Amino acid sequence: MAADSKKSKGIILTGHRPTGPRHIGHLVGTLENWARLQDDYTCFFLIADLHVLTTDHEHPDRIQENILSVMTDWLAAGLDPQLATFVRQSALMQHAQLATLFGMLTTVARLERVPTYKEQVQQLKLNPSAGLLTYPVLQSADILIYKANTVPVGEDQLPHIELTREIARRFNTLYGETFPEPEGLLSKSARLPGTDNRTMHSSYGNSIRLMDSPEETTKKVMSMYTDPNRIHADDPGTVEGNPVFEYHDVFNPNKDEVEDFKTRYRAGKIGDVEVKRRLAEALNQYLAPQRERRAEYAQDPKKVLKVLDDGTEAARPVVQATLTEVQRKMGLL
Ligand code: TRP
Repeated sequence: MAADSKKSKGIILTGHRPTGPRHIGHLVGTLENWARLQDDYTCFFLIADLHVLTTDHEHPDRIQENILSVMTDWLAAGLDPQLATFVRQSALMQHAQLATLFGMLTTVARLERVPTYKEQVQQLKLNPSAGLLTYPVLQSADILIYKANTVPVGEDQLPHIELTREIARRFNTLYGETFPEPEGLLSKSARLPGTDNRTMHSSYGNSIRLMDSPEETTKKVMSMYTDPNRIHADDPGTVEGNPVFEYHDVFNPNKDEVEDFKTRYRAGKIGDVEVKRRLAEALNQYLAPQRERRAEYAQDPKKVLKVLDDGTEAARPVVQATLTEVQRKMGLL
């Protein structure tokens, strides 16, 4: 396990809520970035199954299969058990215990100002649970229990990193230097739109999933949203904001071809079908290595879950050491 290996750049903790299969937006926006970071950082990748319950505790039957599919997709994307440690959040109660203690240092007013909370409350139009309100306190515990310095996340998560930094500062001031103030690390690649040009989201039916076959992928590409004002192949088309071309920019390694397509598209000298057909080919080629890895893991779910269980056990002494230190400093031991 990689938890104790020496890597120069420090400690990373990041993770996903296991909400279902990962898609190509996760792959190019997040997972490829995490895979690169494994060489230089001591990485912990967290399956945040407790966090799932903050918005969905009414489907207990889905959680285990979603954990398996996220883990399978992570491994397919190149996250490597030889280089990183995988953790099942709910199996290490130290995460929840530290969150309870951090809750003492955090005001309700502060948590009510967290933008993700405000949005969720508006969207769900529900009576928010205490668990939803304290979501970022648990996330702070996830991060600080590993004394992580770096947290690669999407932009929407930065307010949670900010709260984590505040909790670290507050703890250090009250009880002595204990935690680093972790930094968020945004990935460079732009966010990939869905096949219908809305945000790519598993529940919108507009995502290309890592588990999709080449045939399914081609089918989804051929029915992608393009320039809606273009009726005939000889109408001049718009390239900017057109998801077919955004995908070409990301997945087609032949940049000359992409430029040629754009020029001809703008001039009305190429049809959508040809542009899409080439995109499907390029995308399938791009996905070939991870599909190969995925096929191996998908046929051996026991092996996938063993990676998670082994990682969790390797992390147990790490999280216990931090918890004991905190309990002692807060006067509980
Ligand atoms: N909130 C994160 C998300 O929805 C998931 C998460 C839980 C996380 N704990 C974390 C991310 C700790 C980074 C660090 O994507």
